[in-house]
Amino acid sequence: MKVLVAGGLGYIGSHTCLALQKAGVTPIIYDNLSNASINVLEQLKHISGKDFTFVEGDIRNQALLEQVMQEHNVTAVLHFAALKAVGESCEQPRRYYDNNVAGSVVLLDAMANVGVKQIIFSSSATVYGDPQYLPLDENHPISATNPYGWTKVMVEQILQDNCQADAGNLAISLRYFNPVGAHPSGLLGESPNGIPNNLMPYIAQTAVGKREFVSVYGDDYDTPDGTGVRDYIHIMDLAEGHVAAFLNHKNDTSFIAYNLGTGQGYSVLDVIKAFSKAAKNEVPYKFAPRRSGDVACNYADASLAKQKLNWQATLGLPEMTEDTWRWQSKYPQGL
Ligand code: NAD
Ligand code: WQD
Repeated sequence: MKVLVAGGLGYIGSHTCLALQKAGVTPIIYDNLSNASINVLEQLKHISGKDFTFVEGDIRNQALLEQVMQEHNVTAVLHFAALKAVGESCEQPRRYYDNNVAGSVVLLDAMANVGVKQIIFSSSATVYGDPQYLPLDENHPISATNPYGWTKVMVEQILQDNCQADAGNLAISLRYFNPVGAHPSGLLGESPNGIPNNLMPYIAQTAVGKREFVSVYGDDYDTPDGTGVRDYIHIMDLAEGHVAAFLNHKNDTSFIAYNLGTGQGYSVLDVIKAFSKAAKNEVPYKFAPRRSGDVACNYADASLAKQKLNWQATLGLPEMTEDTWRWQSKYPQGL
C-alpha cells in the first residue's frame, strides 16, 4: 500500500511517515522544502533503518503530482503541505491563499485525473474560531479569526463539495489541537524559523539558553491559574492518529472531520513547570500582556476519533516536555 505524503518532510508529516512505514504503509514523500530541511530525510532513514522515496515538488505542480502518483500507484494522499504562521498570514494573505487553498485545488485536480479518491487533510482546531462551548466537538460552528484559519475553513469546504460532486471520493479532515513534542529518539522534532510563535518551541529555546525568558501572555484569564489553557497533543500520538484514519475509516464515506486532541487542557504555567522538571532547570518566565487574538481556553472532545477510528492519545505532558527537551538539547540549531 502506497500513499503520497504532501508536505511529508515537515514537522507533523515526517513523524507520520515513520508511523505509516511502521504500520506497513509506504509513504511517497512530496515536499517543496519551503519549510523543511532535506536532512530530515536522512533522519527518517536513520531512525527506521529503511529507505524512503522523496520527490522535491510543489503541490501547485499538477503535472509532477500526476506523474508521481501514477508512477508509484498510490491509493491515497495525506496532505500536510501548507504555510502555517498565523501572523505571517495576516501580512501576506494572498501568499497563504495561493499556497494553501489554490495548492489544495491543484492537488485535488491531480488526484481526480489519476483516479486517487481518498485524501486525509491536515486541518486545525483553528476552524472553531472563538469557542462557543467547551469541550469542542466536531459539530461546533466553523469560523476563523485570521487568513491562515480561513485557508483551513475554505479547504474543508472544498473537500466537502468535492465529495458531494463524486460519491466515490472520501475526505477525512483531521483537526489538530496543539501539536508538540518530538520523536523519543531525539533525532526528529520541530525547528521553527526565527523567533518561535508557539509556546513549546519558545520554552525549549529558553531552556537551552537561546532566549532569555518566556513571556507568558496574560495572567488574568478565567482559568485556574489565570494563564491560557490549551489541549497539547504529542506528535507521536498525532502521527498514530493519521495511521488510524487511513487504516480504520472503513465505514466513512464522503467528508468527515475528526478532532485529534487529548481532551485535557493545560495552562501556560503547567507547561513551563513540566518543562523545567524535564530539563532539570527552572525555565525563566515573565508575565506579559495578553496576545491579541488569543482565547482563554481551548480543548477537544476527542471521543469521535476514539469511537470510529479506534484512536486515542496516550502520552501526557511529561512525555511531551521530556521528548521536546531531548530533541532541543541534541539539536539546538535544528537539522
Ligand atoms: P511544517 O511547515 O513543518 O510542514 C509543512 C510542510 O509542507 C513543509 O515541509 C513545507 O516545506 C511543505 N510545503 C508547504 N507548502 C508546500 C507546497 N506548496 N508544496 C509542497 N510542499 C509544501 O508544518 P507542520 O507543523 O508539520 O504542519 C503540517 C500541517 O498541519 C499544515 O497543513 C498545518 O497547517 C497543519 N497544522 C499544524 C499545526 C501546528 O501547530 N503545527 C496545527 C494544526 C494544523
Ligand atoms: C499556546 C498558549 C498563548 C507563546 C496556534 C495557532 C493555531 C494552531 C496551533 C495551526 C496561549 C501562550 C504562547 C508565548 C505564551 N496552528 N503563549 N507565550 O495560539 O493555541 O495556537 O498554534 O493550525 O492555529 O493559532 O498556540 O503555542 O501559540 O499558544 O504565553 O511565547 O501559550 O497565549 O495561551 P495557539 P501557541
